[in-house]
Amino acid sequence: MTAGSGEHETVLVLDFGGQYTQLIARRIRELRVYCEIHPFDLDVERIRARRPTGIVLSGGPDSVYEPDAPQADPEILRLGIPVLGICYGLQWMAHVLGGRVAASGLREYGRARIRLLAGGGGLFTGLEPDLNVWMSHGDRVEQLPPGFEATASTTTVPVAAAQDGERSLFGIQFHPEVTHTDSGSRMLRNFLHDVCGAAGEWRMASYAAEATAAIEARVGPDDRVLCALSGGVDSAVAASLVQRAVGERLTAVFVDNGLLRRNERGDVERSLRRGLDLRLVVVDAAAEFLGALAGVTDPEQKRRTIGRVFIEVFQREAARLERRDEGSGAFRFLVQGTLYPDVIESVSAFGPSAMIKSHHNVGGLPERLGFELIEPLRYLFKDEVRQLGRELGLGSEFLGRHPFPGPGLAVRIPGEVTAARVAVLQEADAIFIEELRKAGLYDRVSQALAVLLPVHSVGVKGDGRSYESVVALRAVETEDFMTADWSELPHEFLGRVANRIVNEVAGVNRVVYDLTSKPPGTIEWE
Ligand code: XMP
Repeated sequence: MTAGSGEHETVLVLDFGGQYTQLIARRIRELRVYCEIHPFDLDVERIRARRPTGIVLSGGPDSVYEPDAPQADPEILRLGIPVLGICYGLQWMAHVLGGRVAASGLREYGRARIRLLAGGGGLFTGLEPDLNVWMSHGDRVEQLPPGFEATASTTTVPVAAAQDGERSLFGIQFHPEVTHTDSGSRMLRNFLHDVCGAAGEWRMASYAAEATAAIEARVGPDDRVLCALSGGVDSAVAASLVQRAVGERLTAVFVDNGLLRRNERGDVERSLRRGLDLRLVVVDAAAEFLGALAGVTDPEQKRRTIGRVFIEVFQREAARLERRDEGSGAFRFLVQGTLYPDVIESVSAFGPSAMIKSHHNVGGLPERLGFELIEPLRYLFKDEVRQLGRELGLGSEFLGRHPFPGPGLAVRIPGEVTAARVAVLQEADAIFIEELRKAGLYDRVSQALAVLLPVHSVGVKGDGRSYESVVALRAVETEDFMTADWSELPHEFLGRVANRIVNEVAGVNRVVYDLTSKPPGTIEWE
């Protein structure tokens, strides 16, 4: 499915490996112009065929004058499509059009102050003449190509921005996509509206309609579609969209791996049946998962084990459903809730970033089972998935849930995972979440969890000595889950939760709160 192939305006961002490339795309979509990220060397014919409203060249870590620096096809600057180069993007444009780029001697990282030149038109219409901006570069444009004029400078960088109005080529040395740049969104809006002439009318409703139509066109009247539901927002929204398109030809499978939160299975079943009217099959595989996890303590081996058992269970269930519904045909398609950040990571010209943890989800299924994939969220960011969910009528109690990892509580039980330890953690976790909701704090934190530590501590309960487990509580605030701050929950709130846990959860006599940000910690403990 190419949701970007509809009739709406599209901006293409060509990625030179910049750390803020995804942010550029987000900002553009916030301005209601649909936007996609592609590798810097996207074929010029493919670009032309997409008829983009504008092209944005991202930043990147390289020096454009080095022999193996990434190079786009200079033809993109002659398509008559407005181009905005950001940081490396500006330098690349200057370099290939006959200007000169050199190491600046003085590296600039962080805040800088620019002064607008040339009367402040183009990108800078309506802005103050002096602005704080965010710089992150070691090179600078020393000489502009013919036809260009500088439109902003700093005390150390003569060309902080430049333009060739005739050819609609614009460049800025700083980053308008980060919030530290004053009026950065306004600059992007000026580019989109004034320069590209975009109307900015893209809406999630149009995405839903286009995506549904694309799925309808792909799935034939006799084809069947299978979907694995995790209980999380992504898979539910994906299923809902597909169901809209193919109705009863979709069957959703929810595997209870015994590593879920307390009451999770019932909650998920209820909200999915109510909200989605799905053909839903629930498989109880708790014993199988816990059996396979016996004796496993290494975090990555836990993930691999859970991934393997998941595939076995799912495969068996698919075969069973095909036998059960004999005559209805085999499942041809599998729905996956892949999001845009995963797609970008795997297609990035610079390869996926170093692996910290193997997030398994349902990876591996398509190759093993020969399914064709339907990935209706492949062009959306996490917060857009929630918007889409609202558009499709999923309840806010469902859409507002904190993320929950595929391997479930197993990655919150360092050491061996046993049914008894899962039960202890479920109790502690339920108290924490219940109290967060009661105190109105649940929506203020991005994710909250309890961890059952593999240590015992000495305590005193009643008049006797206790020697029991320790629970760690963790709550974080984050936009994208790539970096996170620990949450400053009120002390009396934490005291209340700790008190309830040590009193109500058998086997726990101590509670601690995790004060680690990410990095260097990760959100989960394993
Ligand atoms: P970390 O622990 O890497 O987590 O900081 C970032 C976000 O990802 C979730 N997470 C996972 N999700 N499968 C998933 O589907 C996994 O194996 C997995 N590990 C971590 C985590 O809950 C957090 O939201």
